[in-house]
Amino acid sequence: MDEPRVAPTEDHGSRRARFPLGASVTEEDLSGPRAHEVLAALRRTEPVTWSPALGRWLVTSHTLAATALRDADTFTVDDPRFSTALVVGPSMLSLDGAEHLRHRTPFVGPLRSAGNSDRVVRWAEGAAARLIDGFHQRGRAELRTELAGPLAVSVIIEVLGLSAPRAGSSIEEQVLAWYRDIAAGVLAVDRGRPVPRPAALAVEALRQQVGCALDAGTADDAARMITTISGSGSLSSDEFFSNVAVVLFGAIETGEAMIANALYHLLSHPDQLTRVVTDPSLLDRAIDESLRLEPAAAVVDRYATVDTTLGPPGAEIPIAAGEPVTLSLAGANRDPDRFDHPDRFDLDRRNTGAHLSFARGPHACIGSHLARLETRVAISAALNRLSSLALDEAATTAPSGLIFRKPASLVVRWSTPRRATPS
Ligand code: HEM
Repeated sequence: MDEPRVAPTEDHGSRRARFPLGASVTEEDLSGPRAHEVLAALRRTEPVTWSPALGRWLVTSHTLAATALRDADTFTVDDPRFSTALVVGPSMLSLDGAEHLRHRTPFVGPLRSAGNSDRVVRWAEGAAARLIDGFHQRGRAELRTELAGPLAVSVIIEVLGLSAPRAGSSIEEQVLAWYRDIAAGVLAVDRGRPVPRPAALAVEALRQQVGCALDAGTADDAARMITTISGSGSLSSDEFFSNVAVVLFGAIETGEAMIANALYHLLSHPDQLTRVVTDPSLLDRAIDESLRLEPAAAVVDRYATVDTTLGPPGAEIPIAAGEPVTLSLAGANRDPDRFDHPDRFDLDRRNTGAHLSFARGPHACIGSHLARLETRVAISAALNRLSSLALDEAATTAPSGLIFRKPASLVVRWSTPRRATPS
């Protein structure tokens, strides 16, 4: 979250007076256990509010968030303050209009195909089985860090074709280390600091890894997404790299959170879990309902390109050109104007898919098919391989977080076969 480039049209005192609830909300309120309560209160009385804690406008209504997502001419990502671009370079995530399309288009088809590919399903099933085999005998595990996270990172590495051999640590460990340094770099830039050295080094190391993977080539080149896309020639090598980086990093924390949240919701609703086990065709609905309740990426940021307004008819709020706007997908997804009994995890909900968890409009997530694939694989593997799987409620926490929402701890138990006792 960064500081507004343009001074608010009103002084901060009068904004606080106009948006008293927004003024009282802290970052902790929006990320902690009360987040949905706080978002609901904002949506009721100040669906577009000024948040001094974030230094941004905050939108919690479904209709208004969807309107802003679709209107990139008015609410853009293309702004010099966009911190990811300052760290990894301009990419589809930080551009709008024709340039955005030029950066995004080469990746759309290949990622969609990967998300519908039987080969990727089989690969992910193998990876999930190996992870579970690693802890099966224990009868207890923390599934976010032991299953969801490692599966999400290994699937995207495999799909991109990034796994050229490296000495020392595994490619997964390397990528996670780079991700941590780059994410910390993005945060530092958000807070007005220069790009930290570890982030710059991580970007360079990843650039080399992409180069090695391209050079390595294999008999299975057709399956290597980066080889196919770089061969299409529509992006310069810097542009290609920046977009590979956002695809790679776009999949890691979100993928982990999506899988962990779906497991959390199913395991904390045993009645609905039983229905999914009995009728696996309900699994996709369960995944969508979990996405609605806890979008892995809870907010997206935009900048007003012109003086504009946003708000329900008759109560439009003026927003000045250059002001930053945060769209709360978590708030929009529980809007009672869009979803009946929005706080319920309900497999029978007819319009579950109307959630905004993969955004809408020109920046709608291009990894959604792949993310669904890996979530289906992870849940099926856990349910099929871990008999009588149950949440350890005392050791598990509900999803939380301001930008990414996931359980800090998702501890489960299952029954293990008795070991043969030596005679
Ligand atoms: C395989 C996993 C994933 C990949 C490869 C991926 C990749 C991407 C990419 C490259 C974009 C930028 C698209 C653009 O700007 O044109 C994007 C956008 C987005 N993704 Fe994903 N993503 C993945 C998983 C997820 C998950 C699990 C979620 C949340 C549940 C998610 C939520 C979003 C959202 C909200 C946006 C819009 C960002 C914005 O408008 O500023 N993604 N994704």
